Amino acid sequence: MKKIALTGIKPTGTLHIGNYFGAIKPALELAKDYDARYFIADYHALNTIKDPKELAVNIRQVAAGWLAAGLDPEKVIFYRQSSIPETFELTTQLMAFTSKGLMNRAHAYKAAVQDNAEKGDDPDAGVNMGLFTYPVLMAADIILFDSDVVPVGKDQVQHVEMAQDIAQAVNFNYKQEVLKVPQAAVQESVAVVPGLDGRKMSKSYGNTIPLFAPEKELRKLIMRIVTNSQGVEEPKDPEASQIYLLYKLFATAEEQASLAARYRAGGMGWGTAKEELFRVVNRELSPLRERFEAIMADPAALDATLERGVEKARPIAAATVRRFRKAAGIDR
Ligand code: TRP
Repeated sequence: MKKIALTGIKPTGTLHIGNYFGAIKPALELAKDYDARYFIADYHALNTIKDPKELAVNIRQVAAGWLAAGLDPEKVIFYRQSSIPETFELTTQLMAFTSKGLMNRAHAYKAAVQDNAEKGDDPDAGVNMGLFTYPVLMAADIILFDSDVVPVGKDQVQHVEMAQDIAQAVNFNYKQEVLKVPQAAVQESVAVVPGLDGRKMSKSYGNTIPLFAPEKELRKLIMRIVTNSQGVEEPKDPEASQIYLLYKLFATAEEQASLAARYRAGGMGWGTAKEELFRVVNRELSPLRERFEAIMADPAALDATLERGVEKARPIAAATVRRFRKAAGIDR
């Protein structure tokens, strides 16, 4: 039997190529060897996105984005968190086993409190209970589906560890393995994708290249990459150039070697390097963009795909909730 991998995708913005190399590609790779369960964590996004149109658009775009990038809904169980009511029953069940002190230590909550302290505000200003209990909902997402491994970025490891703690507290109390205890799988080897300004590509820096940008916009963004003032004739160090570092993510080994040689030889200006970059990025992203646009043009089909995922997911979820009820003495 294959092990189970599960991850949640928070629909908080437009997908960019940092997400593609940092999360989407590795998760799709993992889905080859694991029984994969990937979902849109829309109730997690609700903590920060209160505009209904914005949230609805994000959910759709992120779901379409993963499908366009190659997620096969026949192989991966792909669903929306909000379509699985068992998630919220398990959340309540887990609440009784989650100490408040554990939540006080969660990085995201602590950062919000610290922010307030620096501004001289009330410690809890702007902190809703969704933020405070975020790790419990995430633990429920994970534990509900008997997950063995949870592929996440480093920032989410603490949350997976909290899910472990909570599952163990339940099992310890009832003296049986009611819930499976998950493990985090951090992808250490994942490349850091440089952004337009040379810092790590991140939505919070506003330096991203959207994954599905129309061709014209893609070209414009690439031409806007910040470079130094080295002239055309000067030899250049490829590894010190974010144009080249981005190029490496999209180019074949031969292409990489050949562009590196042109950098070192001198006689090539930044404009040319950017043209080369645009060519390989567009080559990889064009088919994705076309699939994305086709999926976005047929919302009914997208909804149907997600509903089929829900049909597969709910029996698994129901079994976990039932196991808990039985162990807890809340069985009918
Ligand atoms: N908290 C995760 C993030 O911000 C998203 C998420 C929600 C998640 N539930 C999850 C990730 C369960 C892994 C497993 O990226």
